[in-house]
Amino acid sequence: MYVNIAVLKETTPGEHRVALVPDVVPGLIKLGARLHMESGAADGIGLADTDFSDVVVISDRSVLVADADVVLCVQPPALEVIDAMKPGAVLICYVNNDLPLLKHLLDRKITCFAIEKLPRVTRAQSMDALSSQAALAGYSAVMLGAAALARVLPKVTTAAGTIGPAHVLVMGLGVAGLEALATAHRLGAVTEGYDVRPETREQALSLGSTFVDTGVDATGKGGYARALTTEEKAKVANALTTHIQSADLIITTAAIPGKPSPKLISTKQVAGMRPGAVIVDLAAEGGGNCEDSVPGETLKVGAVTILAPLNVGSMLAEDASKLYAKNLANFLGLMLHDNILTVDVTDEILSAAVLSHDGKRLNAPAPATPKSSKSAAEVA
Ligand code: NAI
Repeated sequence: MYVNIAVLKETTPGEHRVALVPDVVPGLIKLGARLHMESGAADGIGLADTDFSDVVVISDRSVLVADADVVLCVQPPALEVIDAMKPGAVLICYVNNDLPLLKHLLDRKITCFAIEKLPRVTRAQSMDALSSQAALAGYSAVMLGAAALARVLPKVTTAAGTIGPAHVLVMGLGVAGLEALATAHRLGAVTEGYDVRPETREQALSLGSTFVDTGVDATGKGGYARALTTEEKAKVANALTTHIQSADLIITTAAIPGKPSPKLISTKQVAGMRPGAVIVDLAAEGGGNCEDSVPGETLKVGAVTILAPLNVGSMLAEDASKLYAKNLANFLGLMLHDNILTVDVTDEILSAAVLSHDGKRLNAPAPATPKSSKSAAEVA
């Protein structure tokens, strides 16, 4: 007996990642997997089908998934894929509140784990794709910002004179924000961090940055932030204006699970920014942290450039795939032992991430409940 695992080629425009890399193949085989992959699945990271030893390559995706016990991918797959899967099979990917997908999952009795719903607990850290992809996004944000700036980040001394370092402000110090702060500091910028969770102060200082203290503590449930009240927003905006308007590069990453991105930079504040300044808004998927951001676009507002890129994880597809594939392999390790797949939806991690099992809907996809350690609540 073996467990058949099928890996899809991504079809979402702009998605270059893949859910399997050669490095994780031996470990999965050791657990009892037989691996199958759609032809060309790793094209986006420059790997050919022949780079995958011990993986059977199949071109017809319906044939690929028909016998699969587990299907792996990055983005939610097309509905035809679900319809071609056998009842009782397992799907693991980002689901992103895809409600039509959920309907098909229930109809086909597919067990689906949404990788973005893994709880942020110590035991799940090696499986936490939100963290691995956010760390790379934080790095990418600095690269994008540096490329859009008409000045250098570090102090540069030449015979003609010295140019001082750029000032970088990072707003939202979760995984992406801290990586952005560390990257900008390494590149020689003078860095400042800001978050509504006061514990991030120490983290910012440990990365050689200063911290903007607005006097507002908005620590929410499970380590996430809560939304600010109107009074708190005004107090924060007041305290932040000077920092926003003296920065050369601002990177924003603020998010509140299940809610639109909070607006941290107003149109009025943008109007008072330094000419040539750049904002990289990593919260574009949730509408953006800057009032002037247009998700997916780069635009000029006066003399300020605002980038609001989408799917930043896919920009570093090679490294992002390595981490994502390892996250998935570690997650599969919870279910795959001695050639047998056992889906125990009462396990703390599986219970938080499962959306559908045996034709029943578990953990309604929207809004997300972060860091739940409770068993899945059956809602239908
Ligand atoms: P996220 O992507 O949900 O949010 C990014 C940051 O934005 C957070 O630091 C949040 O406090 C901040 N934020 C929200 N509203 C804001 C506002 N109005 N102004 C300024 N900042 C605002 O965060 P991420 O990276 O997913 O991390 C969330 C939490 O999970 C953190 O406490 C993090 O340390 C924790 N975590 C725990 C892990 C574990 O295994 N124990 C693994 C990864 C993260």
